[in-house]
Formats: sequence, structure tokens, C-alpha cells
Amino acid sequence: MSLSTIIQKLPKAELHLHIEGSLTPELMWHLASKHSITLPYKSIEEIAAAYQFTNLQSFLDIYYAGAGVLIDEDDFYALMWAYFTRCHEDNVVHTEIMFDPQTHTARGIGFDVFMPGFLRAMKDAQKQYGISSYLIMSFLRHLPESDAFATLEAAKPYYSVIDAVGLDSSELGHPPSKFERVFREARALGFKIVAHAGEEGPPEYIWEALDLLNVDRIDHGVRCQEDEKLMAYINANQIPLTVCPLSNLKLCVVDDLAKHNILSLLDEGLMVTVNSDDPTYFGGFLNDNYIALCDALPVTEAHVKQLAINSFAASFLPDDIKQQHIAHIH
Ligand code: ADE
Ligand code: ZN
Repeated sequence: MSLSTIIQKLPKAELHLHIEGSLTPELMWHLASKHSITLPYKSIEEIAAAYQFTNLQSFLDIYYAGAGVLIDEDDFYALMWAYFTRCHEDNVVHTEIMFDPQTHTARGIGFDVFMPGFLRAMKDAQKQYGISSYLIMSFLRHLPESDAFATLEAAKPYYSVIDAVGLDSSELGHPPSKFERVFREARALGFKIVAHAGEEGPPEYIWEALDLLNVDRIDHGVRCQEDEKLMAYINANQIPLTVCPLSNLKLCVVDDLAKHNILSLLDEGLMVTVNSDDPTYFGGFLNDNYIALCDALPVTEAHVKQLAINSFAASFLPDDIKQQHIAHIH
């Protein structure tokens, strides 16, 4: 069996996916027309052609603008449902989905609009596809910590359906320490904690995410390799890293996938996972990320299986459910 067939057949979890980053150019075009919004593009092809990025910020500018077509509950349902349909095609059986409330509340669109849309799609995905899903509410780090506190407060009616709190957006200049207090409160409320760190930012940001935010997982984390002590700590404690290969390539974190460190991190024993981040902006959903790695690096069947096992092991699923999924991989 070819590696791509093995990848297709393996049940997998996805742990680093921004729902706003799964908006296809087709849905963006459709929603813009539905709401009479004028996009700075003349066609669907022109939208796709605009996705040429030089760094994280050049992507974020387009990503936040794209999310402007999401207006009513049905739009958020359609966004989430389209992602679940791709999950079903890729045999993703569990997914932990990030959403950025501030991207919407800043436009006057509140939790009572996007949450019902998300939750309805999640219920339907469980029923129709057997896909389980969790929600990770992410704070935008380019905004002040007071904004994150206001977001945590606004989310109160939905605490029971949110599993984790995360930190994303422009990393450089916005270290985890800026959010120490709000994450202390989120942890006290019982949320799991994740944070983007070591994507563009230095290893010190990963240390801060671990020491000050008490994260359960690091999103990206690929720059941990620049600090031997940090690598050893992450390995010894099996802190999961949710790595996103095509994202790293598209945002110029690496200039060639053949130089990506995911395989050497995996061989050293770190708890690394493969994820798609913002699939419609970076040129591939989950299986595309696995396949791109196989094309660029000496990935074996054993590696692929280990990555699939890790995807469940690093999830926030209860231990018995993790083990049930992992049992299907051996
Ligand atoms: N928001 C969406 N994708 C992101 C990424 N790769 N890094 C930081 N913030 C993001
Ligand atoms: Zn991300």
C-alpha cells in the first residue's frame, strides 16, 4: 500500500485548525454576494491568487479581512460544516477547533450569533459523520490583555461548550507574558490551555507559554530546536507540539519542506502532531499536510502511524476514548 493510501485510511485527529482559516474562496465569494459585500477581488480565482505570503502578518491581514463576510448564524454553520465535510473525506474522526471571537465581536457580531452556528454544525458532524469535536477559544495577542478579559467574560454563557483557551495572531512583540493574568483566570475556570509559540517567535516565548501560561500544548513550537534545554524539557514532559507543515512553508518559517524539523523532532521522541492551521489559505487540508511531508522527507509507514497515534494522545479526549482510537491504528 502506498503511503498516501495509508494516510487516507488512518483515523486521525486534528488539533490545530482555525475555523476562520478554513473559509474557501468559493464560500467567501458566495457570502460576499449574499450580504452585498464588495470584496477587493473580481473573481474566485483572484481571491485564491492573492494568497501569496511573505510572513505571518502578511497572511493575517488577508485572513482577518476574509472573515468579514461571516455575518449571520447560517454563515458560521456553513463555514464549520464545510470543514467537517473535508474532515470526513480525510478520515479525521476528532478535531479540536480554534475560533477567534474578537475577529467577530469587533465587527458587532456576538457570541449569540457565531456560537449557535458552530454548535449546530458540531452536532450534525457527530450525527452524520461520527466526528467528535471540541472548541478552543483563542485570544488575539495583538490586542490588549483587557480585551482578552472582556472576551472571557462575554463567553460566560458558553463555558460548558468550550474546552480550551488559546492565544494566536501576531507573535513577534506580543509574548505570552502579556497575557499571564487572563490565562491564570482561564485555568482557574477549568479550561485547558494552548498557545501559539515558537512559530516566528523565539524559544523564550515557548518558555513563557510553559512557565507563565501553564499550557497543555504548544501550537507550532518548531523553533524549540534552537534551545537544547527547552527541547529536553519538552521531550521529558511530552509537551505536545501541534506542527503545521504547509503553514510553515507558506509563511516562510521554512523555505523548503525538505528542511522542516518535524521528522527529526519525532525521531528524538517529542510528542509532535501534524495539522493544517489555515488550510484554505495554505494550500492543503490535513492529509495534504501528511502527503507533503512524505514527498519532502524520508517519512516511513511507522512515522505516519506514530503521527496518527500522537494526534489522539495529544488531544483533550478522555484517556479511554484516546485508547479506543489508538487501538484502531495498530
Ligand atoms: N491565526 C490563524 N493562523 C495563525 C497562525 N498560523 N499563527 C498565528 N495566528 C494565527
Ligand atoms: Zn495557528
